[in-house]
Amino acid sequence: MSPGLKLASLALVLGTARGQIPILCATAGHMQRGECCPVFWGDGSLCGSASGRGGCQRLEEGQRWAGDPSRGRDFRLHWPTYFYRRVCKCTGNYAGADCGECGYGWQGEGCQRRHTVVRRDLAKMSRGERARFVRAMQAAKTTHSRRFMVYASEGAWRQAPKSFRPASVFDVATWVHYVCSKTLVTGEGPNFAHQSTAFAVWHKLYLLYLEKEIRNITGDEDFYIPVWSWAGSANCTVCSDELFGRSTDTGLLTGPFQNWT
Ligand SMILES: *[C@@H]1O[C@H](CO)[C@@H](O)[C@H](O)[C@H]1NC(C)=O
Ligand SMILES: *[C@@H]1O[C@H](CO)[C@@H](O)[C@H](O)[C@H]1NC(C)=O
Repeated sequence: MSPGLKLASLALVLGTARGQIPILCATAGHMQRGECCPVFWGDGSLCGSASGRGGCQRLEEGQRWAGDPSRGRDFRLHWPTYFYRRVCKCTGNYAGADCGECGYGWQGEGCQRRHTVVRRDLAKMSRGERARFVRAMQAAKTTHSRRFMVYASEGAWRQAPKSFRPASVFDVATWVHYVCSKTLVTGEGPNFAHQSTAFAVWHKLYLLYLEKEIRNITGDEDFYIPVWSWAGSANCTVCSDELFGRSTDTGLLTGPFQNWT
């Protein structure tokens, strides 16, 4: 398998864009055992193995990074092997840390039903639809994720206990984006999410992940992040007080997101 495919398949093992830790596995016990194979509530077995959803599988350590080992191993390489040696590997269309969910684009008991949502152009949405989108984003910023935590002891001495902290749905997503944008601890390598051929694919997966998290807190299975088509626009048509806000003369942001930190 090519390294790219390997990374992509590991991403699928944990069900989402890489970088965050399932709350189900963010405990000292899981870190000590190096295992993230939660019990699927639906059948009481690890990774839902009793109902054929998946199994607890050992991960390969991956090839050693060629950089200077005295500068430490970058925790993102061969994700998630820095944290876990065993994780749930889901079969078919099942996904999630415990294989208790459906993969992107699937629904239903056995995750066999296609679920298609079309991302519409903001300009073609009604005022009410746009307001609903803004409300969902506000909820993402103010609601703690019940699903993921962020890794907080980055850069700590390798043997130090790993620590995690809760964050809002939006802040977890922001952290994932930040983590994928940094160069490696060895100082080598590009910003993999942005300065390489991975750009489009990485962000496609990222948006699917963010939409899924927002669907989780709003309960709206059809929530989507709209498209902004700027063809034919002379300026930033979404930089309005109704949507993403404008810059004031003093450099402040107006609009619904002005108080976000
Ligand atoms: C949201 O996620 C939690 C934790 O994974 C899950 O228990 C809950 O059923 C989800 N809710 C929805 C509406 O998807
Ligand atoms: C963009 O241009 C339109 C007219 O072409 C104008 O009405 C609008 O105020 C401008 N918006 C910004 C943010 O400059």
